[in-house]
Amino acid sequence: MTDGLEFSGLTKRYGSATVLSNVSLHLRPGRVHGLMGENGAGKSTLIKLIAGVVPADAMTLRKDGAEIAVTSPADAAAAGFRIIHQELNLVPQLSVAENILLGQPLPRRLGVLVDWPELARRAEAALAELGIDKIDVWQQAGSLGLGDRMLVKIAAALVSHKGEVAPCLYVLDEPTAALAEAEAEKLFSVIARLKARGAAILYVSHRLNEVMRLCDDVSVLRNGQNVMTAEVGHTSRAEIILQMTGRDVADGYPARSARVAGGEVCRVVAVSSPKLRDLDFILHPGEILGICGLDGAGQTEVLRLFLGLERPKSGQVLLQSSPAPRSPAEAWARGVAYVPRERRSEGLMMRMGTRPNALLPHHAGVWARLAPERTWANDLSGQVGLKSAGPEQSVWRLSGGNQQKVVFARALAGNPRLLLLDEPTRGVDVGAKFEIYKLMRDLSDQGCAILLASSDLPELLGMADRVLVLQGGRQSAILDPAGMAPNDLLHALYPATEMS
Ligand SMILES: Nc1ncnc2c1ncn2[C@@H]1O[C@H](COP(=O)(O)OP(=O)(O)OP(=O)(O)O)[C@@H](O)[C@H]1O
Ligand SMILES: [Mg+2]
Repeated sequence: MTDGLEFSGLTKRYGSATVLSNVSLHLRPGRVHGLMGENGAGKSTLIKLIAGVVPADAMTLRKDGAEIAVTSPADAAAAGFRIIHQELNLVPQLSVAENILLGQPLPRRLGVLVDWPELARRAEAALAELGIDKIDVWQQAGSLGLGDRMLVKIAAALVSHKGEVAPCLYVLDEPTAALAEAEAEKLFSVIARLKARGAAILYVSHRLNEVMRLCDDVSVLRNGQNVMTAEVGHTSRAEIILQMTGRDVADGYPARSARVAGGEVCRVVAVSSPKLRDLDFILHPGEILGICGLDGAGQTEVLRLFLGLERPKSGQVLLQSSPAPRSPAEAWARGVAYVPRERRSEGLMMRMGTRPNALLPHHAGVWARLAPERTWANDLSGQVGLKSAGPEQSVWRLSGGNQQKVVFARALAGNPRLLLLDEPTRGVDVGAKFEIYKLMRDLSDQGCAILLASSDLPELLGMADRVLVLQGGRQSAILDPAGMAPNDLLHALYPATEMS
């Protein structure tokens, strides 16, 4: 008898496109199995088949040697599968507590009245498992930031319910993409505990470092096929990248090739706002200013100063020596482009095609149908390595990383003089990441100034000319990244008192 879960022959077609082709995976108890692949390789689709949310064209599943069928989410739950999907599908109108216990019978008193204190207690306990005590369980889920929403989702998947089969498999689809460093660490320790209890874990991530550290085994999907499965100890970063991309990809950051002389793109003078304090910096043409801090330290708000969405209470924000734009539309008209952090809610019209999305702010209705724009959209898609069925494919059908690329393509299309990037490479595969870095470098070589908010510390050190550090909304330093290691930067994020 074989231990664990054996999936074989996984196949899925959408119309004429084969998204998964005869994929097999063996997930063993007490082991973390990494699943990697470029954007659109089929990782999330594979997970949707395992979860029973999308019907497979073919799939055989054996649990400890015996064949079982999973054709619905109920089947998956009955088999002991706990799944955390890539999309953040919480019910925004419900409280955190209700979201965590969603789908379970609510605790009741006297058989009728909902026992709210008991509900809150259980939700708090689920969050405490993750080492989280900062989230108020009565808060509406819709009001949470991205990282906190991910934590609630994870807590919901981990919570145990009476009378349920013991979970034998946890699946996590890019859980750390939305998490800050410290939260990711907590998640890793939870995964270690689940592993020690003998569950199998399937872990999807684009972060190679994370996979190398956390996983026992790794599989790589390329164009819907399983091209590699190995023990992590018996493979290398280079091998995994080669299998993902089918080619040697530069693993690093493109060097600057030109220096832009003089001038000033924007200037922030002694600014305090509802979320920011003591902000003071000048950005020159072609300069990349990194912005970092712990989760929610004000990174996004600094970008929003230039969109009229974060209004200074004191001090001055200038764009080319004139007062900063008062609205996103004015910002766009004055050459400010923005790649938001929450691409699904802020960035895209999910039901429309990639072409109208990529060109969103540029066109007035009728022009969109003209041929030159079509070519333009295709060029842009090519530049960011977009993998889609064509410019008319609805954005919601794209893989997560490809949605991000559409937003990026749109920002580039305006030939911006100031580019605001909020976590631009989150959820983007290694190959495309490098393409995005190259595009950033090209833009900055041509004189575009870039504000890069990122929680990816190596990325900041590799791309930024200077790094602005925020602590609780206050500018605490501007650092020169030359010679710094990610760990030095990490230390700079914490207030001095917490370090001693
Ligand atoms: N409902 C759908 N209709 C048509 N095509 C789809 C649908 N859902 C997914 N696809 C296509 O299937 C392919 C695989 O997508 P999937 O979401 O599995 O990729 P992924 O490996 O998870 O990528 P990412 O790293 O970007 O999340 C993509 O080309 C995507 O456009
Ligand atoms: Mg995916």
